[in-house]
Amino acid sequence: MQKTTLTEQETRQFGIELAQKLQGGDVLCLYGDLGAGKTALTKGLALGLGIEDDITSPTFTLMNMYPIENKECRIKNLVHIDTYRLKNEEELVDIGAEDYLGAPDTVCVIEWPEKIEGLLKNNKIKKITIKHSSDNTRSIEY
Ligand SMILES: Nc1ncnc2c1ncn2[C@@H]1O[C@H](COP(=O)(O)OP(=O)(O)OP(=O)(O)O)[C@@H](O)[C@H]1O
Ligand SMILES: [Mg+2]
Repeated sequence: MQKTTLTEQETRQFGIELAQKLQGGDVLCLYGDLGAGKTALTKGLALGLGIEDDITSPTFTLMNMYPIENKECRIKNLVHIDTYRLKNEEELVDIGAEDYLGAPDTVCVIEWPEKIEGLLKNNKIKKITIKHSSDNTRSIEY
């Protein structure tokens, strides 16, 4: 399916909607160039899961984890991974990412997933591609 957004706010809103369809164990791969809107979409996904923390890209920390406090939500953690500065898959393994990838109570969202394809082989992957044009228009394929 495809969705066009014209502002960052609309991308975030779309993330809120998409969050309603997520299940524990899902691994969301966000493809798109620098500034495409991967983090903007992740902010919406977090909001949609009831997370109130401000989501910032884990460019240097590689991985951030946000607990989901809502007892009625079957998903207990959102893990946000950004591999942009990652040197190799080992680096993510070293910080324990494999414990979260595919965990039944966790949703993982990955920016720049193409760098860690080897680690994702056995997971339930949902691919999202954000195409970036010269203005604020974004085409989101999901
Ligand atoms: N329709 C839109 N959807 C999302 N962001 C938009 C849109 N229009 C403009 N923008 C702007 O594009 C930028 C998207 O930044 P964002 O950090 O989400 O990108 P990213 O894909 O995560 O980049 P990076 O690869 O550097 O992490 C923001 O500055 C945002 O304001
Ligand atoms: Mg980002």
